[in-house]
Amino acid sequence: MRSNFEKIFGSKEGFRVFRAPGRVNLIGEHTDYHYGFVLPISINKFFYFYLKRNTENKFRVFSENFNDYFEFDYSDLIFNKEKPWVNYLMGVINEIRKIKGEIPYFDAYLYGEIPMGAGLSSSAAYEVSVAYGISEYFNLNIEKKEIAKLSQRAENNFVGAPCGIMDQFIATFGRENTALLIDTLTLDYEHIPFDIKSKELRLAVVDTKVKHSIAGEGYSTRRREGEEALKMLQKHLNINSLRELDEKAFELSQEILPSPLKERVAHVYNENKRVLNFVNDLKNNKWENLPKYMLDSHLSLKNLYEVTCEELDFLVEKALEYGAFASRMTGGGFGGSTINLVPETIIEEWIGKITTSYEKKFGFKPDILILETSNGVREV
Ligand code: GLA
Repeated sequence: MRSNFEKIFGSKEGFRVFRAPGRVNLIGEHTDYHYGFVLPISINKFFYFYLKRNTENKFRVFSENFNDYFEFDYSDLIFNKEKPWVNYLMGVINEIRKIKGEIPYFDAYLYGEIPMGAGLSSSAAYEVSVAYGISEYFNLNIEKKEIAKLSQRAENNFVGAPCGIMDQFIATFGRENTALLIDTLTLDYEHIPFDIKSKELRLAVVDTKVKHSIAGEGYSTRRREGEEALKMLQKHLNINSLRELDEKAFELSQEILPSPLKERVAHVYNENKRVLNFVNDLKNNKWENLPKYMLDSHLSLKNLYEVTCEELDFLVEKALEYGAFASRMTGGGFGGSTINLVPETIIEEWIGKITTSYEKKFGFKPDILILETSNGVREV
């Protein structure tokens, strides 16, 4: 890195470095864009943003992951098809410009250690490290909730992915040994102690290594279906989001909505409840109840929300068969990863069995990461 730095920018002196973590979601999937509850944890895989003001009248940026360099000024701030990696940075600069005006030009060096496309939110970590880094470096005093929100807007408006707020929020506010309960309507949040070591468990993420072509389209279709269901329900109910359904309203939804809208709504309604029950049991040290919530969540994502895939379902089934304490898919689905809590005593053997059976079935190995929790965005 050091030699790259010097080669590209002349000197490595005077850079400041910021980093933001990736995430896995414990429970609360496909609820954030319905303004429901989510419970992610930040992981010890990070995106690093090195930044130094320059006098070149342009932004100069190097990506270590893509081994690629790019320069641009404010007049070039438009989506770049050839260099997709640069759009997240441009999107954030664009959103910051809207609220704070133009910031001075700078040199940037980007490096991400979060696997891309694995459902671990490498892009949110990228956006948040950049937004926070710029705010700190240029003393913009953007408050942390706004860091998360403008990072989401960068992804929605500039990159063009209609994601919710969960990933950017946890990359900003995550804390070691806790899970973050987020109310995505009010953006209130609470750090819930989540000390898996005291339970002699390890956090294992299994990456299917597949991203089905339906992924992007599937995600936006689910969002659209949700909006359609909401519109139909609003003819009978005074609600602004699916999150507001109480028991009676939910029952009504199941009578009047056609398939698959009623199944989608059933997932959202029950998933929100599961998050709150999960948190309650976590707070009361009733860990024995957690696996069932996670499995129910997975099955609901499989049968009602229909965002899992053969690889994810296989991994969850095998994870439990080989002795995992709990397992489910995590993130947007259609590929990506599962999250697993595995007893320390069997972890090596478990990894071996998962790898072998997955390879036997699909012809290639999954990637397995043993992770720790971490803190949210900060200067290094
Ligand atoms: C992706 C999105 C999040 C959330 C999850 C599903 O990770 O970026 O906002 O919607 O999918 O829970």
